[in-house]
Amino acid sequence: MSPRNWRVGVAGLGTVGAGLLTFLSERPGFAPAGGQVTVSGVSARSRSRPRPFDISGLRWFDDPVALAQSDEVDLFVELIGGSDGPAKAAVEAALKAGKPVVTANKALIAEHGAELAALAEAAGVPLLFEAAVMGGTPAVKMVREAMVGDDVRSISGILNGTCNFILSEMEQGGRAFEDVLAEAQRLGYAEADPTMDVGGFDAAHKITILAALAFNCAPDFAACEVEGVDQVELLDIRMAKDLGYRIKLIASAERSDEGVSVRVHPSLVPLAHPLAQAGGALNALFIEGQRLGRIFIQGAGAGAAPTAAAVAADIADVMTQAVRPVFQRPATELAAFTPVDRSRSLVRAYLRLLVKDEPGVIAAVSETLAEAGVSIESFLQKPVEDAEGVPIVLTTHSVSEAVLAQAVERIAGHPAVIKAPRLMRIARI
Ligand code: HSE
Repeated sequence: MSPRNWRVGVAGLGTVGAGLLTFLSERPGFAPAGGQVTVSGVSARSRSRPRPFDISGLRWFDDPVALAQSDEVDLFVELIGGSDGPAKAAVEAALKAGKPVVTANKALIAEHGAELAALAEAAGVPLLFEAAVMGGTPAVKMVREAMVGDDVRSISGILNGTCNFILSEMEQGGRAFEDVLAEAQRLGYAEADPTMDVGGFDAAHKITILAALAFNCAPDFAACEVEGVDQVELLDIRMAKDLGYRIKLIASAERSDEGVSVRVHPSLVPLAHPLAQAGGALNALFIEGQRLGRIFIQGAGAGAAPTAAAVAADIADVMTQAVRPVFQRPATELAAFTPVDRSRSLVRAYLRLLVKDEPGVIAAVSETLAEAGVSIESFLQKPVEDAEGVPIVLTTHSVSEAVLAQAVERIAGHPAVIKAPRLMRIARI
């Protein structure tokens, strides 16, 4: 029997928790199924920390597990964050107690999604995580529900607002990486530990979840190749633009006959492509389905109000009592990711070298590439003020990743090359 008054326990009162409590206090009867939502208990690390809302009237729990198990909680909302520790313990406790769970925790779902799905399905309760990917922009529901009649082929997205903000500001304002990161932290986009953002791990968690939903696999974070934006230099942003590209942190998942490829890395995107146009802290997602063709969505991927809106949408789904398998198939029937053999995959690449300005360097680089069978598509040498050497940049035609890596290693050993070469993929979109 569905309660008319849903008593919600909220663990974690950071940016998203604050956004949710504000929303629920203003709109307790928001759900289409009718009924009311009241917050019956809260838990956070510090009770006394100053907050933009009053928690004195709410029952306080020091331990989120006790909140999850409380008889006064019908639905548990986990906004603590982190793949393990109290977040995982509390979600497990809630599911074992037969309570529906709504979470915004991408690390938890990407790293433990299959085991939590098994717990939820054994208890016959929903485990929902719309807010875990793209904040308030409905990516999870789109893949899990709206695309259930299609076969997704590939997903490419900008899934981390902080990195997108950093790259956009570096390009537009010529600003330094550290300066823009500090601003992203002030604006509340960045994670508590910003290495999760700039190292690419946050985007990797999100694409792991989307890949699992799209390809009916158990999420396998360890299979995701990850490279962040911390090594992207202003020089590359400028050179890429001269060649007609914008550097974006692209998270991609692709299924082929060989397996599933899930990766996050800085990529060159043609300037006219919608993903290149998504600037600032925006998130954007490009999905290719066998029947639907290409779909593009774009929106807020972080921030209190948009992320809380996604949590509220999941609460509304719980209230309608629809329970479906967490990853489209029962947890016991999920396939394993079959990573593709990288030595056989093909890429188009951007290669930037910093070389001594002396005769024969370009010829030596071209010769090494030609010997390896790497075909050059375009070539650019541009004097850049303040650079230690002369930057030369080239893009390649499609080539095996392994062959290219070997050729670049040989080029790196050339005495005229004064800094490690910078290799980036050109996005296949
Ligand atoms: N730190 C994340 C971002 C917030 O920058 O996108 C939402 O997951």
